[in-house]
Amino acid sequence: MDETTLESLTLLPRYLANSAWWQHVPIAHWLIGRHRPETVVELGSHYGVSLFSFCEAAEALKTDTFCFGIDSWQGDEHSGTYGEEVYAKVSREQMLHHPSRCRLVRSSFDEASAYFGQESIDILHIDGLHTYEAVRHDYETWSPMLRPGGVILFHDINVRENGFGVWQLWQELQSCSGYHSLTLRHGHGLGILAHQGTPQDWLAELKQVLPALTAKGNLLAQLAELRPECTWGEQDPTPYRQRADRTWQELEACRMQCKALHQQLNEQASAQAQDLRR
Ligand SMILES: C[S@@+](CC[C@H](N)C(=O)[O-])C[C@H]1O[C@@H](n2cnc3c(N)ncnc32)[C@H](O)[C@@H]1O
Repeated sequence: MDETTLESLTLLPRYLANSAWWQHVPIAHWLIGRHRPETVVELGSHYGVSLFSFCEAAEALKTDTFCFGIDSWQGDEHSGTYGEEVYAKVSREQMLHHPSRCRLVRSSFDEASAYFGQESIDILHIDGLHTYEAVRHDYETWSPMLRPGGVILFHDINVRENGFGVWQLWQELQSCSGYHSLTLRHGHGLGILAHQGTPQDWLAELKQVLPALTAKGNLLAQLAELRPECTWGEQDPTPYRQRADRTWQELEACRMQCKALHQQLNEQASAQAQDLRR
């Protein structure tokens, strides 16, 4: 595992908003460090938690990455419809912190698809409407735009209620030739589909650090729940403050563990390199 990928283990998010995506934020950081993608396209950004986790990792890890967040910013039958304040918050964050690495595309996914070429996307995140038909349509429309070696992420593969059907498409895709896959069941579930051009060792690398990233993601989700309107590290005025502070301390401990893991993996890698030289 290279230095940038290892560094991604200790990142903490800056942006805070409501989302069902918090558990997977450390995975997004890791993917940016490991793949150093040029182009990330997200279908469904809502408040921007997943989108800005890609942007923040690219910033911190100094990768040459540009992220597109595509959304009508009107909502759908699963996320519910919402008002202009959501787009205003996301757009403010994009303008203030990511003007040169992120663009918001306010349109339907289908309209936007005409503006992306075949094999032009390195990481595609599909997180729009979650019915089987909708997610299948999004996959069929957008997967030809994935570069060989690219990665598709599916959110909510483990939700089995309320008309969600991503789990069903995920079952079908896992048995498809042409891809390697990894199923993360925690949170609402994240399916990682890697084009066969991707060296398979990165999935093994991800599995090595997965327990640490999962623990970190769970703590981020708890903090997001406890600190709805605050920025990380700020004092929390709500009655949940004590619990939030405790969770924050646990997160710090978890980051220390990630750092220790970082060091251990580094030592393993240099020992292996020495063995090879002998
Ligand atoms: C589940 S939310 C995205 C959550 C987000 N990734 C996060 O980090 O929290 C789904 C979003 O997809 C958008 N959406 C659903 N179908 C769409 C479509 N066909 N075209 C444009 N936007 C769509 C909705 O407006 C909604 O904001």
